[in-house]
Amino acid sequence: MARIGQADAGRPVGKGARMVHGPAEDRGVGDRRMAGGAAADAVAAVSEGRLWDRLMAMARIGGFTTEEGHEGVNRPCLTPLDREARRLLIGWAQAAGASVSVDPAANLFLRWEGTDPSLAPVLTGSHMDTQPQGGRFDGIYGVLAGLEAIEALAASGVRPRRPVEVVAWTNEEGGRFAPGCTGSMSFAGFKPMSAFDDIVDAEGVRYADALAAQLAEEADLPRRPLGYVPHAYVEAHIEQGPRLEAEGQDIGVVTGIQGSRWFTVTVEGRTDHAGTTPLSLRKDAVQDALRAIAALNALMHDPTDVLRFTVGSIAVEPGTSNSVARRVVFTIDFRHPDEAVLRPRGDAIAGVVQAALKACTARVHERFTAWPADFGPTVPEAVARAAASQGLKAIRLPSGAFHDAQFLVPVCPTGMIFIPCRGGVSHHPSEYAEPRACANGARVLTEAVLELAGGP
Ligand code: GLV
Ligand code: MN
Ligand code: MN
Repeated sequence: MARIGQADAGRPVGKGARMVHGPAEDRGVGDRRMAGGAAADAVAAVSEGRLWDRLMAMARIGGFTTEEGHEGVNRPCLTPLDREARRLLIGWAQAAGASVSVDPAANLFLRWEGTDPSLAPVLTGSHMDTQPQGGRFDGIYGVLAGLEAIEALAASGVRPRRPVEVVAWTNEEGGRFAPGCTGSMSFAGFKPMSAFDDIVDAEGVRYADALAAQLAEEADLPRRPLGYVPHAYVEAHIEQGPRLEAEGQDIGVVTGIQGSRWFTVTVEGRTDHAGTTPLSLRKDAVQDALRAIAALNALMHDPTDVLRFTVGSIAVEPGTSNSVARRVVFTIDFRHPDEAVLRPRGDAIAGVVQAALKACTARVHERFTAWPADFGPTVPEAVARAAASQGLKAIRLPSGAFHDAQFLVPVCPTGMIFIPCRGGVSHHPSEYAEPRACANGARVLTEAVLELAGGP
């Protein structure tokens, strides 16, 4: 079995990963001794047309058109569609001269060799899975922008000191297997891979089985061990919010990611005849779930409108018109940039639910926790320099969406590049980013990656 990507070998990520990198300057991250001409050559080799054509080719895999004429994508992770998209990516990467490998979490890596293969790579990428009613840019843009950076380095003959690796993380969205980011969490040692084995999708398929099926389908690809310590990680993504477009900015230099806590609440009652059972005798799970949600809305009230609280899924059993509900399971997605808010209000959820119930019982389970992440200076500064050197308008902003980058923060210097998207709309089939905006982001990514990789 081929072993790839073990630069700076012997530093697997796992427990204590937080301790592995000291101040970025000590490790020479962000080394700026780079010939300006080489960066300019590489940036000039980014092709807006190629990147756009690839985005549209990927959008056909799982693509659908809504009644309103929006072209969305439904490409759940670890499915035949996901594999088809990965094969397309692999073909392009190999033609560009990158070597391909896959890790035990099915994270897919495309490696462009540097002049010193013993050095830790600069890692870039994002995810290829989508929400069920997803768009053409969320995730896949960052993977294809990373590949475009490799294409540009190859075409311009610019070879950095460090290898550059593009990663397509497994299951970022959590649309099929919740929670998301299981690939990056496994890679970063945030949780052992086995922690996700028993997650099931809507059809009852276990994550571990879907993962095994994917790895079996990709048995021809060289396998690499799980996790390593990259020199730096930088992820390009559509903003998924309205600021860049509204303020006429080309690039968002992302400063960090707000924290997220996901819960499932199971309300247990008793099913009864809807026509005959007096209300006073019922244990109606729907009615108690409504009481709980109303109480949670009060708990989450935020006059500043910074807090995000979403009940996005409600499942009712048995789910017929003429039966009182026996069980309701609803989800909570709670986010805030400040841990001092996220922690106490999240911790209060279980008590608020219990206090709101009239006739039923309830269980509250926290299934995903990502505390707010601060990217620090190193990668954001490299991104800001790249945008400035290209004459692009840039602002610093935090991310409201979560991203795989969040889990890389304890492992290595990390950052993200945002590009504007129309109306800030995302997780919707009408999600759209202009070809020029996509190319701007890829050019900034190319220059930032080249700088972080130590230049030619
Ligand atoms: C990621 O897709 C998120 O929900 O923030
Ligand atoms: Mn995404
Ligand atoms: Mn998403």
